[in-house]
Order: sequence, then C-alpha cells, then structure tokens
Amino acid sequence: MKKNILYAQSGGVTPVINATACGVIETARQHRDRIGKVLAGKDGIIGVLREELIDTSRERKADIAALRHTPGGAFGSCRFKLKGIEESRGQYERLIEVLKAHNVGYFFYNGGGDSADTAYKVSQISKKMDFPVQCIGVPKTIDNDLPVTDNSPGFGSVAKYVAVSIMEASLDVESMASSSTKVFILEVMGRHAGWIAAAGGLAQKESGDPPHIILFPEVPFNEKAFVAKVKKAVETHGYCSIVVSEGVRGPDGRFLAEAGTRDAFGHAQLGGAAPVVAEIVKSALGYKYHWAVSDYLQRSARHIASAVDSEQAYAVGAAAVRFALAGKSGVMPVIKRISNNPYRWKIEEAALGRLANREKLMPKSYISSDGFGITPVARRYLEPLIVGESYPPYDRKGLPKYVRLKKTLLKKVLPPFEV
Ligand code: F6P
Repeated sequence: MKKNILYAQSGGVTPVINATACGVIETARQHRDRIGKVLAGKDGIIGVLREELIDTSRERKADIAALRHTPGGAFGSCRFKLKGIEESRGQYERLIEVLKAHNVGYFFYNGGGDSADTAYKVSQISKKMDFPVQCIGVPKTIDNDLPVTDNSPGFGSVAKYVAVSIMEASLDVESMASSSTKVFILEVMGRHAGWIAAAGGLAQKESGDPPHIILFPEVPFNEKAFVAKVKKAVETHGYCSIVVSEGVRGPDGRFLAEAGTRDAFGHAQLGGAAPVVAEIVKSALGYKYHWAVSDYLQRSARHIASAVDSEQAYAVGAAAVRFALAGKSGVMPVIKRISNNPYRWKIEEAALGRLANREKLMPKSYISSDGFGITPVARRYLEPLIVGESYPPYDRKGLPKYVRLKKTLLKKVLPPFEV
C-alpha cells in the first residue's frame, strides 16, 4: 500500500520555508504511483500530536506553486520541544499512533538543530514501536547556525535584506549627518551566531563604506573600543553606521538585550540590543542617533529574497522526497559548496545525528582582527548566497500576490490528546 508523507514546519519561519514545502509537495505529486498524500501538521508538531493534519491534496496546483514565493509558514509552525524519549515517552507514542492512524510512512521535519534531534528520535522510537517511519530532517534557519550544511535555507534571503537595508539606511544618515543624525544602528537576529550580522558587511563595496561597525555575538562587547570606533567613524566619514546582532553579550556573558522570557527550548527571548548600544553612544559622545530592530521584517522579507536561497530551499524539499523514495531514514539533505567562482552547489546527504543540537558559529577567520568587521574570506563565503532576485508577482494594486491555503483538516480518528 502507498504510504503518505507527513511534513511539519518547526521553529522560527524564514522567507523561503514555503519554497521547501512547495518542493516537497510538487515532487511528491510527480510520484503518485509510489507516494500517497502529503499531509502537513497544523502549527507544526503540535498539530501532529493533536491529530490536526492538513490534507494538501485538497489544494490547487497553482496555490501550491505560489508557496514558492510566499513568506511565513503556510501550515503554521511552533516552538515546541519534544524532550528525551524517556521524559516525553507519551508524546512520542502519541506521535507514532497518529502516523499509524493516517498511514504515514515518511516524516519530514523542516527545522534547525533542535528539529533534527526530534526527527532522529522519532525514527528511533518508530522502530522500537514496530511501526518504522522514514524520518528525514529538512534544513532551514535564518540564523545559518546548522552544522554540516554549507549554509541553511532562509539565511541567504535574510542576509540580502540586511545588506540592502543597511546600505539604504546608511545613504539616509549620510545625507542628514552634517546637521542632524550621526549614528544609525540596525539590530538583526542570530541568537548565538553572527552570520546575519556579518551579512551587513556585504554592503561595503570599498574600504570606508558603511557599515562602519558590526557587533557579533562571538565577540564580547568592549564598550571602550566601541565608543572609540564610533568617534573615529564620525570624524572620518561624518557619520557612523552600525549593525548589531541581538545576540551580543557583555564581557560578563550576559546578553545586552535579554527580555527576560524564554521559549520552549529554553532560549532567551532577545530583541533590544540596538537601543542599549544607542544609549551608550548618546551618553559617551552625545551624537544624535536612530535605531531600528529588523526583527520579523527580516524573517519575512520575501520581496527581496535571494534567488540562490529560494532555489536551495526548493531543492532541499525535493531532495527529501527523493531520499524517502530511495528508502533513506535518519538523514537530512544538506548543501555542499562545490566552488565559489562561479558559485556551484549540490545536495548531499548527512546523518541527522551529526546535525542535532549543534550550533555553527562564525569562525575566527571570518571576523576582522579588531572584532568589528568581516574579513575577505567571510565575504567570499557570504557573497554568493545573496545573489539574484526572486521577486514575487505583484497585483495591480501594487501588492505581492501571496497565497493563503485552504488548510482542510483530515477527519480525526483518535481520541483527543492534551498538548
Ligand atoms: O529562527 C531563529 C530566530 O530567528 C532567532 O534569530 C531569533 O532569536 C528567534 O528566532 C526569535 O524567534 P521567536 O519568533 O520565537 O521569538
């Protein structure tokens, strides 16, 4: 009997996570002889536990195709941690019961390191429970902190948004600087890893171009050196443009911007490093400043997505289906860089155990010796990832044509389950 695929989105979404969903669904539809339906968890794994499964076969072909250029997570995502098998046994058992009840033979979990871990555990427990399910992790994270893969789908588009935004805002502050604002600060995401902040450096075409300062989570914040660098930039260029990662920490290891709340994974909720840094500038140097937190704007900016990123996001979804058809389990399709110039890449297979719960930080060689910028080697790595535009179609009112799916749920057959 043909088995169904269950696809679920997990964690923070990306501008191109739906391109991955599109890759999964379109590719599965090409193999109707071997694959049943593609089901999707409503709001990720939470929906799976609640037996809220979206039947994607009820969606029109054109709407599935439009996922390729629609941001957000089309089926809903969640931050929900399935802990160790012993601790969360009831949830794992429920998961397998749901998969069994709906004839699921393939579980695709589209997320970062935490989700790779969950997918791995599901593959283990499904074997123990005598209902073996082929579990495939599908990579995504704007933070680019997944190991093994050369880059993570979602990152390239956020990198492009950040590089373009700091370039544009810097032109603004440069024009105002002689009589008004002298400092502009853009805060970007990336909890522990400075990849997104580093992408701001791509805006620099020549030495002296903005951003003049990048603050990375990997480099403990040195207030004295920072203030001196801002002063120097204003004296030299008339203004100072800064990119700060939300994950910057002081020498004591505390986040500059910890909001005090934590998510289900125990991650601190961040956001607010820019105003802290702005206050430091104001009190030490008295310059007028503006700051912005790019927050969800960067994570959803599909209008300025990188074409390379969008293509790779689709490719990992399509590869997950190919892996499933080839009988693989406990693996993830990852991106392997073949060459920089011209940029060439391919999809390879990696064992989930190599990706689970590990974060890839910026290597030392990517950060300039003063700690405030990127090196040529970082630039060579980052540059290809933002190349090409992949604009969504626009309607006559000037707005992007993003799709909303019908999201028809399958009929429940199991008793309710409290999540
Ligand atoms: O997806 C990762 C991430 O973008 C982090 O960079 C950021 O700290 C976090 O998500 C914020 O996510 P949430 O929407 O859960 O607050």
